[in-house]
Amino acid sequence: MKLFTALLAAGFAVMAAPASADIFAENGCIGCHDAAKKKMGPTWKEVAAKRAGDKATVVAAIKNGAKGNYGKIPMPPQPKAAAQAEALADAIMAVK
Ligand code: HEC
Repeated sequence: MKLFTALLAAGFAVMAAPASADIFAENGCIGCHDAAKKKMGPTWKEVAAKRAGDKATVVAAIKNGAKGNYGKIPMPPQPKAAAQAEALADAIMAVK
């Protein structure tokens, strides 16, 4: 029984782990962004390094889009994600 409980706890830990990554999937960011793999947009790692201590810029970029900061491709505004922009920005800035 102890082993079963331990396995169950481990299972929940694994299921709970990707929760912060899911926020990017839910909001359609992962087509262009990844934590560490360069896609159309910059990696979260790049953004976190460039915008350290500047959450306002990250929130604004999610709501209004951005261009010219990382390359030639612009970031389209994400109106559907606007309500979650603060949480998304926190998750991005937590990427090391
Ligand atoms: C169609 C592709 C695309 C989608 C979808 C997309 N992005 Fe982007 N994103 C980009 C590109 C391209 C850039 C680089 C813009 C630039 O050079 O300024 C970018 C830049 C950013 C930046 C950096 C802004 C800055 O000035 O430092 C953040 C933060 C960001 N995206 C968050 C998100 C989030 C959160 C989502 C989902 C809600 C999302 N993006 C969806 C393409 C996309």
